[in-house]
Order: sequence, then structure tokens, then C-alpha cells
Amino acid sequence: MSFLVQTDIALAPKTTLKTGGSAAYYVEVENIEELEKAVYFAEQNKLPFFILGGGSNILVSDEGYDGLVIKMNMKGLTYTEMNTNEVRLTTGAGEVFDEVVEATVERALWGLENLSHIPGSVGATPVQNVGAYGVEVADTIFEVTVFDTEIKKIIIFKNSDCNFLYRHSIFKDKKNLIIISVTFILSTFPNPKLTYTDLRNLSQLNLIPQQVRTAVIAIRAEKFPDWTIVGTAGSFFKNPIISEDEGKVLLSKYPDIPTYLATEGMVKVSLGYILDKVCDLKGFGIGAVSLYKKQALVLVALPTATTTDIKNFKEIISEKVFEKTLIKIEQEVTEI
Ligand code: EPU
Repeated sequence: MSFLVQTDIALAPKTTLKTGGSAAYYVEVENIEELEKAVYFAEQNKLPFFILGGGSNILVSDEGYDGLVIKMNMKGLTYTEMNTNEVRLTTGAGEVFDEVVEATVERALWGLENLSHIPGSVGATPVQNVGAYGVEVADTIFEVTVFDTEIKKIIIFKNSDCNFLYRHSIFKDKKNLIIISVTFILSTFPNPKLTYTDLRNLSQLNLIPQQVRTAVIAIRAEKFPDWTIVGTAGSFFKNPIISEDEGKVLLSKYPDIPTYLATEGMVKVSLGYILDKVCDLKGFGIGAVSLYKKQALVLVALPTATTTDIKNFKEIISEKVFEKTLIKIEQEVTEI
């Protein structure tokens, strides 16, 4: 479809949580010229804008979005062979991330296989440094190409410019940087990452990326509801990162909470475990919103749920966690 700004477009069907109101203005962009036109439209009309990818990590207000939603549809995959071991893949921000993962696995390229079946678009993955099963997207990103709406120029961010941290990057803070493509470094040489508990029993011998992908898909099928059926955004909250001292206090009370190394002096603690085993909230629900019965970090919303229901529910969950652990939890999902 050519460039067309529409009005009053329902956003719920465009998100995996499937709640919330409409966008006052909505446009889909397929190339840089259309993106520039969309940004110009927002500026001329003094509207805020929001870039929508696959909608798998956003919570839309019941009042809707009083601005321009720009749906990123820029496509294309380009492979460049660097040497016998390394292939670079540049993909448009609007590609479906899992289709890209599948394409790389079919070419027997290593790097993205642990990130199989993550919903969402390629352009969304650097924003919150998507991660799963021992791998973060930052591990394979070579560079991210953005359109900077302040200076109206295309800029390349090398991996080290992206400030990647756990579920964080520079793109979370700087809304003037619109991601238009991502370049991944992939390896033809076997490079399996099997540190995650459920992947440890895969034999390294003659392993191919497809086997890892198949194993990851099987694990995910056990832990996540089908987002094409129920409303969900995967993990709703982040795993909290607390100081080592706070961690010691917490572990003296609950010694079995899984913890992981974070940055210097900090530990990441498993909120799924806390919700489940410490707070006994796995499967807990209020009305149409609940914590998934197989993975407590995953929020599920029935079709009758509203965004207000989800927001009220998350406050109650946060209070319950704070009562038991003194941790103030943060959500992973972005609200608009
Ligand atoms: N656990 C429980 N009960 C639960 C859930 C988890 O006891 O209800 C325990 C597990 O047994 C395990 C630990 O908590 O010992 C961690 O659980 P899991 O491996 O399932 O991972 P997670 O920390 O809950 C994170 C990511 C997921 C990613 C998985 C696998 C975040 C916020 N979430 O979840 O990413 O798929 O690890 O690597 O970091 C997402 O971000 O949306 C997402 C789905």
C-alpha cells in the first residue's frame, strides 16, 4: 500500500496483549522516504509519534494514542560473506524476527537459533536487547542503522554505541532514533550456546542450528501461551537487578531463588521463581487477567480484559512482591 495516513485505527488487534484504544493517526511505511514523510506529518501537525513493530511488547492505553502510530514495514534480507567463517545479515526493521531466525537456521548459520519463536519485528529487538536461553540479540548485532528525526539523517550505531544492557539500549531512551535496519554477525562455524539448563543435554557432536531451534521451540511451547490465541506479551516484568548486599539478605530468607551475575556488584534475581515459589502467585488471576499457570512471569489477558484491568493487576502483583522481598519490580512492556 502506498503512503496513506489513516485516522482512528484500533490498536488492540495490532498488539499481542490485544487491549487498548485507537490511534488518532496511523500510517504504514515501507521505505525511508515514507518514514521521512510520516515524521514530517507528525511535526507539521504537532503530534507525538510511536513506532510500532510486531506489537508484542506494548500496552496501549484504553484511551488510545493521541498521536501518529508509524507501523514499520521496511523489509529485506541481505547476506554478505565476510570470510569462510563469518556472514553478515542486514535486515529491514519491519521483518518478522522469527522468520529471519528461521532463514538463518535454514542456511545453517549460527547466532540467532537460541532466539527462536520470539514474537515481534527485527527493529524491536535491539531496543530492549531481546534475550532468551543464554543469548541476547546484542551478542550477534554488528550495527544498527537508524533515522535520526532531530537531524534528519541516517546514522549507523556500532554495537558498542548501542549501550546494550539487560533488556536495555540507547534506543529505549532516545525516541528520536528510529531503527530502519539491523546487521547481525553470523557464523558458519559451529558455535552452540548451550548454557541454559534445558539445553544442556543437547549433544555438541555434529549439532546443527536447526536442532537448537527445534529444542528452543519445544521449551517455549511448554512455558508460553500461544500469543495468537490469548493476550500476552511474554515476560511482563523484568528480572530485578539488585545489589549484592540486598541479594545476600534475600537469599538468607529464600535460599533457593535463582540468581545470575549482572554488572559489577549487582545480581539479577529470578522474578518468575519469586512470583511462583515465594509469593505463590503462579496462575493467580483477577477477573480476566492472570499470571500464566506454567510460567508466573508471563501475564495472560482474556479477550474481555481491558488495559485498565492489566494496569490494576500489575500494581497488585508489584505490591505483593514488595511485601515479601522489598524489591520494586519494573515492567518490561512499554506503555503508550
Ligand atoms: N521459575 C519458577 N516458576 C515460574 C517461572 C520461573 O520457579 O513460574 C524459575 C525457573 O524454574 C527458573 C527461573 O525461575 O529456575 C527462571 O525461569 P526461566 O528460565 O523460565 O526464565 P525467566 O527468567 O522467567 C527469562 C526471560 C524470557 C526468556 C527466558 C529464557 C526476562 C524478563 N525474561 O525469563 O524472555 O525467554 O528467560 O531465557 O528476562 C521476555 O523477555 O519476554 C521473555 C520471554
